[in-house]
Amino acid sequence: MKKSVELSRRDFVRFGAGSVAVGIAGRKAELLEPKTLFPSSSVPPSDTVRFGIIGTGTQGCDLLRASRSVPGVECIVAADLYDSRHETVKQILKKDIDTTRDYRRVLDRKDIDAVIVATPDHWHARLVIEAAQAGKDVYCEKPMSHTLEDGYAMIDAVQKNKRICEIGSQRVSSILYAKAKEIWDSGALGEVDTIEAVWDRNTDSGAWVYPIPPDANDATVDWNTWLGSAPKRPFNGRQFVSWRCYKDFGAGLPGDLFVHLISGIHFITGINAPPLRAFSTGGIYYYKDGREFGDLQWTVYDYPKFQLVLRCNQNNKYEDQMFTFYGKKGTMFIRGEGAPAALGAGASLAFQPQPPFQTREDYSIGSWPQKARDEYIASWNREHPDPPLGAYKVESEAEVYAAPPGYNDLVEHQANFFNAVRTRKPVVENEVFGNVAAISGCHMSNYSYFNRKVAVWDAASKTIKSE
Ligand SMILES: NC(=O)c1ccc[n+]([C@@H]2O[C@H](COP(=O)([O-])OP(=O)(O)OC[C@H]3O[C@@H](n4cnc5c(N)ncnc54)[C@H](O)[C@@H]3O)[C@@H](O)[C@H]2O)c1
Repeated sequence: MKKSVELSRRDFVRFGAGSVAVGIAGRKAELLEPKTLFPSSSVPPSDTVRFGIIGTGTQGCDLLRASRSVPGVECIVAADLYDSRHETVKQILKKDIDTTRDYRRVLDRKDIDAVIVATPDHWHARLVIEAAQAGKDVYCEKPMSHTLEDGYAMIDAVQKNKRICEIGSQRVSSILYAKAKEIWDSGALGEVDTIEAVWDRNTDSGAWVYPIPPDANDATVDWNTWLGSAPKRPFNGRQFVSWRCYKDFGAGLPGDLFVHLISGIHFITGINAPPLRAFSTGGIYYYKDGREFGDLQWTVYDYPKFQLVLRCNQNNKYEDQMFTFYGKKGTMFIRGEGAPAALGAGASLAFQPQPPFQTREDYSIGSWPQKARDEYIASWNREHPDPPLGAYKVESEAEVYAAPPGYNDLVEHQANFFNAVRTRKPVVENEVFGNVAAISGCHMSNYSYFNRKVAVWDAASKTIKSE
C-alpha cells in the first residue's frame, strides 16, 4: 500500500532549489516501501549466519548495531587492535563474545560463515584475501582497495575461492536508489549528458578532526600491526584516528566520499567500467594541520555517454548531499541526509519532467527585415496550430519519493549480504563493482589530483596513465 506525505512550502524550499522546488510545492511525496529483509519474517535457527568482524571502530560499531536489525545473523567473534573496542562491541551486542587483537583467530574459527572487514583502507586487501582463502564470505568496507593492484588481487582471491563478497557502499541497497534506477531505466530522463554530485560538510566530524580517545596509546593499541605495510613510526594518536588524511592509510575525500557517490551513480546508470578520463583539482584551504589530502576536491569525469562532476568540501555545508541528473526530457534529484523535515526521513528523490514544447524561434529573427520576419512567423504558425481547447498541458508534475522515517540502508545492505551468504545468490555490490567504484572514485581522482594531469583509464593494461 502506498503512503504519502504532504510537503509544506518550507519543506520544498529545503528540498531543493530552482525548478524542482516549484514543481513539488504542495505535492505529495510517495513513501517507498522498504525491501523485505528476509523472505520469511522469522529465520529458523538452523539458517542463522554466524559471522566475525575485523575492525570495530566507528563503522565496525555501526555495522554491528545495524546487524541487530537483520534477522537470522549473529556475531560471535570480533578482532580489533585497540583494546577499548572489545568492550564497546560487547556493549553493542549486549553479550560477552570472543574478542581478540589477532584477526587470525577470527579467520581460524570453523563456526563462522562470514567476516566483516571494517579496518582502515590499507588493511582491506590483506584481510579480504586471507578471509577468502580461509573459506569465509566477506563484507568489506569501501573503498574496496587502497591501490589499483590491491583491487585485482582481491577479485582474484574471492573468485578463486568461490566466495561471496559485498563492498560497503550501502546506498546501492537503498530503496531510493532502486527507484532512481527505475526512473533512469525507463528512459524518462531522455538523453542525459551531465550528472553532478556534491557532498559538503562543515564540522570537525566531517573534516575527520576526531578526538583521540584518552586511553589510546602504544600499550592499548597494537600500533606496529595497525601500521601494516606502512613505514614504522612511534604511536601517533592523530594518525590512529584521522587516518583518512594520510596516504599510507586512506585516500582523502575520494576514498571517503567520492566512492559512495560514484557507487550510487554507477548503480543507477548501470556503469560497470571506469570512466575514460578524469581531471581532478582542489586543495587544503582551511585544515592546514599536516594532512596530505585536500579539504576541497573536484573531479570531472568523461564517461562514454555523459560527463560526471563530483565535488566534496569540508568548509561549507549548504547542500549536504545532492545528485542531479540532467536529461533532455527531465531532471532527477536525490537529496541525501537533508530530507524534508515533515518526512522525518533520511533521503528523498524527485523527478521533474521538462514538458515537450515547441516554441517559435523569435530571437535571431529580430535581425530580419520586417517582411521576411512576418512571413516566417505566419509560416511557423501554420505548421504549428494551437491545440484544441482543453488539450493544454499547463505544467508537468514532479514525482517525489522519500524513504520512510527510520529507514536505514545499512541494515538493507547487510541483509543483502547475509541473504546471499545463505542462498549463494549474487549480492548487489560485488568485488567487481567495488573495484570499478574504487578505481573511478578514488584512484583516478587522486592520480589526477597529485600528478596535476588528466588520468586516463587504459582498459587493456588495467592501469591509469597520463594524457
Ligand atoms: N560505509 C560507510 O558509510 C562507512 C562509514 C565510515 C567508514 N567506512 C569505512 O570503514 C572502514 C573503517 O573506518 P572507521 O571510520 O571505522 O575507522 P576507525 O579508525 O574508527 O576504526 C578502524 C578500526 O580498525 C582497527 N584495525 C586496524 N587494523 C586492524 C587489524 N589489522 N586487525 C584488527 N583491527 C584493526 C583499528 O584498531 C580501529 O579500531 C574504512 O574503510 C572506512 O572507509 C565506511
